[in-house]
Amino acid sequence: MDKKTRTESEDKIAVDSTTHVPTVYSDDWQSETTSIGSSLYRGLDENGRRYQTLSHKEYLIPSDEKQFETYEAGHLVALVMDSDHDNPLFRAPVKDPKHILDLGTGLGNWAIDVADMFPTTTVRGVDLFPPPVTWMPPNCILEVDNITEEWTWNEPQDLIHMRIMIGAFDDAEWTRLYQQCYDNIRPGGWIEQLEASPYIECDDNSLPADNILHSWGPALSACGKRAGRPLETIDMMQDAFRKAGFVDICEKEYKWPIGPWARDQKYKEAGTVNYQHWMSGMEGWAMWLLCKFGAPEPWSHDEVIVYVAKLRAELNNPRYHTYERARRVWGRKPFPEEIAERERNEANKSTPIKVEE
Ligand SMILES: C[S@@+](CC[C@H](N)C(=O)[O-])C[C@H]1O[C@@H](n2cnc3c(N)ncnc32)[C@H](O)[C@@H]1O
Repeated sequence: MDKKTRTESEDKIAVDSTTHVPTVYSDDWQSETTSIGSSLYRGLDENGRRYQTLSHKEYLIPSDEKQFETYEAGHLVALVMDSDHDNPLFRAPVKDPKHILDLGTGLGNWAIDVADMFPTTTVRGVDLFPPPVTWMPPNCILEVDNITEEWTWNEPQDLIHMRIMIGAFDDAEWTRLYQQCYDNIRPGGWIEQLEASPYIECDDNSLPADNILHSWGPALSACGKRAGRPLETIDMMQDAFRKAGFVDICEKEYKWPIGPWARDQKYKEAGTVNYQHWMSGMEGWAMWLLCKFGAPEPWSHDEVIVYVAKLRAELNNPRYHTYERARRVWGRKPFPEEIAERERNEANKSTPIKVEE
């Protein structure tokens, strides 16, 4: 399975046609997400949002209470989409892990849940911004650090995990980061990453071709390109894992519905939470990108607010069966003997065959 990738993908999501469709979504099913206060860190205020200041390089998404709601919702969407698995947190077949590392942990939701699930494992979550959490399991450690710099952790990791790091790095930083992951995973240990696409998609033409929601993905992706931070993270992970040296790479493709329009209960629940994810997230996802790299010239704060309000109104239409693609990829660090064997095979392949005359 070394070179090949095992892919699981999802079919077209069936629409729930049995329920009454109002003209807009009402508030009753929208989850109340707790706002989390933080006095731990002031950060930089810009365009009405707060950004981290630990890294000299700006990170595009704000670190503020509003965005923390989005992180909570994103965590839930990922869990619901894998709720039919015994372990909805990761797919890598890790056995009796001693050390797990979650890079760009955000609020630490994933790290905390994994620490609960594996009480004898040390689970470390690291982020630029101190997560405003008041309680965590004793085996969970949340740290503030910049993962693009030299790592100081000494323990070889059984699993390194990343989620929704889209647009965080330029190509060279990603390459170096995956290499650091490889170097810090024990032989036989795993890397896993789950990312979502910035494009809003629709399989049944229920979203009119001229709808403004179609503009979101291309507009943000173009900004990401101009910023030197491609947003197509979802499409580059698999290749990047392979280039870093990982083997047994597997992937699972998802369609995350936006809104509760699907017939299947799992998709309906995921869509419900994902709607909240988008409603609370869009302003923060777009503000830095459009105000710094918008076209034809950088946008003003007010222009972004108006644009996002229009997008919100459109997403609020239950007749539009929208979704975003997401992908989970996991791979294993080979053992030294596997690497030696591969090198031998490659050397044999490149040795010219002597032809007897
Ligand atoms: C969109 S959030 C996702 C959070 C979390 N992984 C989740 O799925 O809930 C991305 C996180 O990556 C963090 N991040 C970005 N660049 C980073 C860096 N260079 N070092 C550490 N954390 C970083 C951000 O501060 C942010 O909290």
